[in-house]
Amino acid sequence: MLNDYITSELPKYNTGVHKLCYNSRLYWLKIGGESKTSLLRRMIKKLSKFELLSFLSTNSTLDSYIRLKHEIKIIDFLYDKGCSVPKIVSYGERYFVTEGVGQSLSMLSKSSLDSKVLYNIIHKLKEIHANGVAHGRLVIRDIIVDVKSSSITFVDFEESILNASDKLKVRDFLFFIMDLQRLEFITINDKIKILDMWISLSTKQENYELKKLFVILYNLRFLAYIIKIFKPKNKLVNQVLSISKLYLNYREHNL
Ligand SMILES: Nc1ncnc2c1ncn2[C@@H]1O[C@H](COP(=O)(O)OP(=O)(O)O)[C@@H](O)[C@H]1O
Ligand SMILES: [Mg+2]
Repeated sequence: MLNDYITSELPKYNTGVHKLCYNSRLYWLKIGGESKTSLLRRMIKKLSKFELLSFLSTNSTLDSYIRLKHEIKIIDFLYDKGCSVPKIVSYGERYFVTEGVGQSLSMLSKSSLDSKVLYNIIHKLKEIHANGVAHGRLVIRDIIVDVKSSSITFVDFEESILNASDKLKVRDFLFFIMDLQRLEFITINDKIKILDMWISLSTKQENYELKKLFVILYNLRFLAYIIKIFKPKNKLVNQVLSISKLYLNYREHNL
């Protein structure tokens, strides 16, 4: 039985995420215990107490096992609501196991990333938001694509937030579009299309929050240009600059 297999495999692994194969099916084992607290994360948490910076709020400074428990609870909740999250097939105090649901978006080639996949990402993210949950740190590695069916599944809900504000939902989207920068074949036109999709599926209030966050990032671009002189390859700097470019391109005709 799957559960016996998992129990026998558990002692072989340390904290982190591991791929398992049982009866020719893939499963992912996540073992808690990793500390994700850093000085920067603790500072961000403090800054997020200010209303203007509340979009920075994070769960990442919580104890690892509390985060794991929280993740199991949210994934189960969303799964029951029919949202695009993996099924949890087994769990314990320190771990849980989900069904393999495909390939990470970060590994996808240009030919597999068509507009149907992009539409599904936005559409399925909206379903999660409609159930009150914000993912918290939506990077492309945590978006899983089943290439055959173009279906999408989101993973890694450690930092997710229940009863999330519009601001935190919009933040998910901005994280995602900023991280898309990693896929070199994604053009500014692709991003504009994604932005269009997002805006058309959002409420007035959400679009207002989006504009506010865009403006904050846009105003940070001068700082980003200065840091770029010293650290030309810094990821965050390049993301801020790319989002400014996107905002500039979009502003003329839409937002
Ligand atoms: N059920 C799953 N199906 C396919 N890939 C998965 C699944 N669960 C996790 N992964 C892959 O493993 C990676 C790490 O898992 P994640 O939950 O994000 O852990 P971490 O908190 O270490 O980032 C994910 O980014 C994803 O690429
Ligand atoms: Mg992850």
